[in-house]
This record gives sequence, structure tokens and C-alpha cells, in this order.
Amino acid sequence: MRRVAIAVSVSVAVAGCDDRQAWQTPDPTLARMLEQRRADPYEASSAFPDGKVMRTPPRGSVPTDDDRDAPPPPITRELVSLGKQRFDSTCAVCHGVKADGDSVVATKMTLRPPPSLLASDNLARSREELFVYATSGYGLMPGYADMLTREERWAVTAYVQALQLSQRARVADLPPELRDRLAREAR
Ligand code: HEC
Repeated sequence: MRRVAIAVSVSVAVAGCDDRQAWQTPDPTLARMLEQRRADPYEASSAFPDGKVMRTPPRGSVPTDDDRDAPPPPITRELVSLGKQRFDSTCAVCHGVKADGDSVVATKMTLRPPPSLLASDNLARSREELFVYATSGYGLMPGYADMLTREERWAVTAYVQALQLSQRARVADLPPELRDRLAREAR
């Protein structure tokens, strides 16, 4: 038994030496980081007694993605103002306060500047689609599910649609009080 223990510690020491040499002469391309040993989801693995690479979440784990299929909250004035708050603090830094893509970040992110959300292809996006992007991200943009609750993400999508409407609303789309006021002011 003791001999086995010694053999293991010697091999660990040798592996440790190899690692140190790699570290001492760093590869400027960082290729070693691309080539590390790793396992893909659902792969077999000898690292665990059950032979599977994927682990069962511990009891009591709270899933973070179980809320996506629930129906969206109804659009109310409170929801839209919550959306404005969260949009201003989370999204505006890149997409601009008016969602028109006018932000400092946009002038620095040359690879793909955060686009205007008022551009015509974005006007066609459904609220559900905006929700999926806010939750899981889109291309270079990360998801915001860890910063915004489900309700806040729905609120943000409602506010983005309000901003979009604000740029192309027809008088006929306005509520009657507002339509009357505009008509009075135009006289
Ligand atoms: C760190 C900067 C950044 C933040 C913060 C950010 N975005 Fe984005 N967003 C981007 C970039 C960059 C793209 C384009 C990604 C690509 O095409 O690869 C994008 C794309 C999008 C698109 C698709 C638009 C299109 O024309 O392709 C939507 C919709 C969107 N973002 C909504 C949001 C919302 C809602 C938030 C806040 C929850 C948000 N973004 C926060 C950078 C950001």
C-alpha cells in the first residue's frame, strides 16, 4: 500500500515539473491554452466513478433558465418605467439612451459597434425575440440574465418597443387625449 502511495506522489511530482517548464518558457501564442485536455458535454470520463463527464446538480440547486417559457407580464405603465430604469442602467451604455446606437462604447467597439435598435430590421423584431436576446445574448453581445430578473428583461423589451414607437408613431396610433391635445396645439 505504501509503495502505491509513493508511486503516485512521484508521478505527480514529475507532472508538476513538466507544468513548471511549460510555464517557465511561455508560448507567446498561448497555444497551450487552446490545446488543453477537456471533455465535451455527454462524453464518457474516467474521472468520476459513474463514468460520465456531466455531474448531477446537487440537491436544492435552483435552475436559472426555467422561466423562459412562462408567459410575459402584461404591459403596464409600471412595467415600462421599470424597463426604462433597467434599459438606462444596463443597455444604454452601448445602444445609447435613445436606443439609436449613439454611445461612447459604440465609438470604441470597432469590430461590431452596438447597433441602433431603431433601425428598420430591429423594428420587425417581436417582443419575444428581444427577450431572447436580452436573456441569452446575440452574437458579440452577452446575455443579461444574470443582471436582470425575468420581469426586468420583459420590462426592458417593452421599453425598447416604446422607444421604437416613439420614433415612428402615426397620429392615428395615439390615445384620443393625446391626439386632441396635438390637434389643439397645431391650431
Ligand atoms: C457591452 C455592450 C452592449 C450592451 C450592454 C448591450 N448590447 Fe445589445 N448588442 C451589442 C452588440 C455589439 C450587438 C451586435 C452583436 C453582433 O451582431 O454580433 C448587439 C445587438 C443587440 C440586438 C440585435 C440588434 C441588431 O441589429 O442586430 C438587440 C435587440 C440588442 N442588442 C438589445 C440589447 C438589450 C435589450 C440590452 C440590455 C439588456 C443590450 N442589448 C445590451 C452590445 C451591447
